[in-house]
This record gives sequence, structure tokens and C-alpha cells, in this order.
Amino acid sequence: MAQYEEVLQGKGQKFLIRNAVGNDASKMIQYMTTVNRESTFLAMEPGEFIKNFPLEKETALLQGWVDSQEHLSLLVLTEDGEIAGSCNCSYSTEKIRYRHRASLGISVRQDFQRQGIARRLMEIQEEWCRSQGIEKLCLEVDTLNTKAIGLYLGRGFVVEGTLRREAKMTDGTYRDLYVMGKQL
Ligand SMILES: CC(C)(COP(=O)(O)OP(=O)(O)OC[C@H]1O[C@@H](n2cnc3c(N)ncnc32)[C@H](O)[C@@H]1OP(=O)(O)O)[C@@H](O)C(=O)NCCC(=O)NCCS
Repeated sequence: MAQYEEVLQGKGQKFLIRNAVGNDASKMIQYMTTVNRESTFLAMEPGEFIKNFPLEKETALLQGWVDSQEHLSLLVLTEDGEIAGSCNCSYSTEKIRYRHRASLGISVRQDFQRQGIARRLMEIQEEWCRSQGIEKLCLEVDTLNTKAIGLYLGRGFVVEGTLRREAKMTDGTYRDLYVMGKQL
């Protein structure tokens, strides 16, 4: 995808939003480890990200996305160069019948939340989707995740269904997920 870069004014500080590149891998591993520790609403347990995506693999993945038409991987960086948030969106051209839909995942580190970061990331991704001819944006969200559900409903997503007991936590409890979609 073409390079993306913009400055976002937060509350009391500026953030840089740009594409993730291969060199961000080590910071990304650190960031994902932090957000997976902070929230039970993401797909991985704390410490699981680095097992699935060790440095070399994560570097190749991020760099591959830079060169791919079908991914937009955005990072939000603080003035100190720390990752404050991340948002990935992708579609596949493999199956003609699903070429019109894309999926999205998003997170913002706890100490940078409530500054409009997620809202802006979603706006950029939706614009990018439209530029790619995508007509529908899809995501899944824990039914207990009121913050994220508020974000998505506020952007015109609707709940299309519920996946029962879709996630099993390490304490043996289950979580239901909403499937949400937005017609672009
Ligand atoms: C959900 C999340 C991405 C929101 O990020 P954020 O940058 O704080 O969100 P924004 O400041 O852009 O707020 C956008 C909207 O989200 C909702 N929202 C965000 N934080 C909220 C909170 N604490 N309480 C209620 N609603 C909230 C609101 O609708 C808000 O709009 P408003 O400011 O007009 O009220 C963030 O809380 C997060 O990363 N949580 C942990 C990981 C996660 O749940 N990811 C989503 C998985 S599906």
C-alpha cells in the first residue's frame, strides 16, 4: 500500500500516524505484550504474541504488508517514538465473492486512550477501504467490551450476530463475540 503519514493532535501531545514497517517489529512485540496484558478483549494471552510472532517473523510480516496492496497496517507513535496504538485492516483477492469485504483489528495502549486515536484510525481505514473498492468492513468484538462496541456503533457498525463461547479464557470461562459489520 502507498505510504501513509499524518500528525494527530491528542490531549496535550501530538501523535504520528504512519504505516508500520519491518523495522517496527521489536517495538510492536513490546506493544502487543503490553496491550495483551492490559486487556482481556484482544485475541492473545499476555506473553503469547512473541511466541507466535518472534522478531524475524514479525519483521517479515510487517514488511510484507508494506509491499502488499491488500493490507494497511497503521501505527500511532508518541513524540518519544513509543507505539500508542495500532490498527490493521486487510482484504483478500483470492475469492471473488469475498473481494468486497475487509476485516479490521484495533488497539490503543491504556495510557493513551480517550484521545480520539481509535476514532481517527478507523476513519483512515474506512477511507482506505473505499479507495480499494471495499464495500463492507467486518470485525469481531467481545460482547463485554463496551468501549469498543461504543466506538463501532458510533461509526455506523451494526451487530450482525453472536458467536457463542467463541473464546475460552485460561480460567476456563468462555466469552461470546459479536460479529459486527458496516456497509461502506
Ligand atoms: C476500544 C479502544 C480501541 C478505544 O480506543 P480510544 O483511542 O480510547 O477511543 P477514542 O478516544 O477514539 O474514542 C472513540 C469512541 O470509543 C468509545 N469509547 C472509548 N473509550 C470509552 C470508554 N472508556 N467508555 C465508553 N466509551 C468509550 C466512545 O464511543 C468514543 O467516542 P466518544 O469519545 O465520542 O464518546 C481502546 O479502549 C482499546 O484499545 N481497548 C483495548 C483493546 C480493545 O478492546 N480493542 C478492540 C478489540 S475488538
